[in-house]
Amino acid sequence: MPRLQGKVVAITGSGSGLGRECALLFASEGAKVITSDYVHGRAERVAAEVVAAGGEAYGMQADVRVEADMERLVQATVDHFGRIDIMHANAGVPEPGFGANAFHELSLDDWNNIFATNLTGIFLAWKHAARQLIAQGEGGTLIATTSASSLNAYPGFPAYTASKAGANGVVRAAAIEWGRYGIRANGLAPTHGMSINFALPQEAAVLGLSYEQMAPWDPDKRAMPLRLGTPPTLLDNAYVALFLASDESRYMSGQVLASVDGGNFARTSIIMPGDLGAGDGVLPDELRDVVEGAS
Ligand SMILES: NC(=O)c1ccc[n+]([C@@H]2O[C@H](COP(=O)([O-])OP(=O)(O)OC[C@H]3O[C@@H](n4cnc5c(N)ncnc54)[C@H](O)[C@@H]3O)[C@@H](O)[C@H]2O)c1
Repeated sequence: MPRLQGKVVAITGSGSGLGRECALLFASEGAKVITSDYVHGRAERVAAEVVAAGGEAYGMQADVRVEADMERLVQATVDHFGRIDIMHANAGVPEPGFGANAFHELSLDDWNNIFATNLTGIFLAWKHAARQLIAQGEGGTLIATTSASSLNAYPGFPAYTASKAGANGVVRAAAIEWGRYGIRANGLAPTHGMSINFALPQEAAVLGLSYEQMAPWDPDKRAMPLRLGTPPTLLDNAYVALFLASDESRYMSGQVLASVDGGNFARTSIIMPGDLGAGDGVLPDELRDVVEGAS
């Protein structure tokens, strides 16, 4: 029996990276999927990929910072598939400069924009999903993509770290507030195996690859605590989201799971300032070339 047979799932920020991977994986497990993204065309392309793979999906543009868009996303989900069962609030943006800028140079506008997407975006997506779930009266499942930075600060990512720590708070608050309606709320906190597109401009082609897949894999050089012969991938993180989406976790709520070695975070394979002596940026030289070639 597929693990999400007949479930209706909406995913924010699913035009790329983990959201896209979850759309493909959830659909392969029997879910009907609504993809959404603020970059025009991205969500629609992923929906087409799901359909080409034999699944059911509808894609639409929606910005998690805009309440009317999140209301529209839930309404479109109901219009297309009759109901909603799962809302995965996944959209997120990195720090401007991707780790290279000093905290004391961060503008208030940039701070506010990071919070609007990474923290308020979860509130808005979940608020409108919860209203529909409460009206349906059969419970439901909320998932948030936070980050291992919520557990241990990423150097160079102060507002990002703070917004993701806040997201973990929303997970715990939602579990307390909506548990009485049979709605459970959980998060995953990835670090490794995450999308290289996060470091690329929004016009860049969606690559569907992790940072670690972008260069020849040498686990000793990448210095993750867990060393395996192949690099971590988006699918490794998507399987954690699948567990949270499925009935296998039906009695779990208010938890944030560190996915893909994120809990250790003793060393990260995403190179950051001061880490592994990589100098002034997040990306090692060989990755920087690949990224610049793609953008
Ligand atoms: N890549 C990483 O290094 C990393 C690590 C840990 C956690 N995360 C988190 O994982 C989640 C998914 O990111 P990803 O790694 O797949 O990156 P990604 O850039 O490939 O995908 C994120 C998607 O979110 C979309 N998005 C951004 N702002 C939006 C908004 N306001 N409204 C709607 N969509 C918006 C982007 O257009 C993009 O398609 C994010 O919450 C991110 O913070 C990423």
